[in-house]
Amino acid sequence: MNPDDVHLLAGLFRQARDIVFLTGAGMSTESGIPDFRSPKGLYAAGVTEAVFDIEVFRSHPEVFYGFVRDYLPAFRAARPHAGHRAITTLAARPFANVSVITQNIDSLHQDARNPVVLPVHGSLAASVCQSCGARTPTAALWPQIESGHVPRHACGGVFKPEVVFYGEVLPAEVFRAASNRVYAADLLVVCGTSLVVNPAGGLPRQRQPSCKTVILNQGETWLDAEADLVLREPAGVVLEAAVSRL
Ligand code: OAD
Repeated sequence: MNPDDVHLLAGLFRQARDIVFLTGAGMSTESGIPDFRSPKGLYAAGVTEAVFDIEVFRSHPEVFYGFVRDYLPAFRAARPHAGHRAITTLAARPFANVSVITQNIDSLHQDARNPVVLPVHGSLAASVCQSCGARTPTAALWPQIESGHVPRHACGGVFKPEVVFYGEVLPAEVFRAASNRVYAADLLVVCGTSLVVNPAGGLPRQRQPSCKTVILNQGETWLDAEADLVLREPAGVVLEAAVSRL
């Protein structure tokens, strides 16, 4: 890690009044959850986008739940890392608004008590019966999932977690709030996302020309060429180091 880059990032944090983090699966890898498109990610391991497709879920929910069962130990063991906590520390400083727009469904930002979290792809925390609408914490369904069953409500309907599948629209209010936050930002920090899945990946286009832009991502993104600072280091390590300098 280049100490000059960390110093620059700390300086940007110090000057900013409206800081927005846009995070993706790379923000959770240091907590033990694989991302999608890295060489060690889910897609390289043979998981396909069909697993997260709403039409596939409706006709064959066992495809999604088979995936969840395989990765349940990682999901259950995951805890916020030093980078998630650094965002909470940053937000506690006076004079700057800090918001997190996340594509992650793992609730790690919320668990770290980041004060404003906009989960544009929903959350795995709760599930809804597709027949009667009953809502339950997804954790209550773990035993059914672990035993290889598609979790069902007493009415017979299949439970679906409140996550956005391919083919579904994003939660409109949350996405509108996310667009507004990016528009108002004077510092946008893109952490651990390839920015290839739209509309979330296009959110940086809502920023003002004066907004400073930082990419904290190990892989390349379309935004790199427009950024003020690009760091290819682990996001958690860098965020902890930069915030500890404030
Ligand atoms: P991706 O897997 O596409 O991108 C993760 C990025 O994080 C990659 O560019 C990695 O290089 C980088 N990365 C990994 N670990 C990192 C670390 N510790 N520090 C910094 N960078 C790191 O994940 P997303 O962009 O989140 O959607 O994917 C977007 C959407 O595609 C997901 O929300 C999901 C997926 O299909 C749905 O399922 C609807």
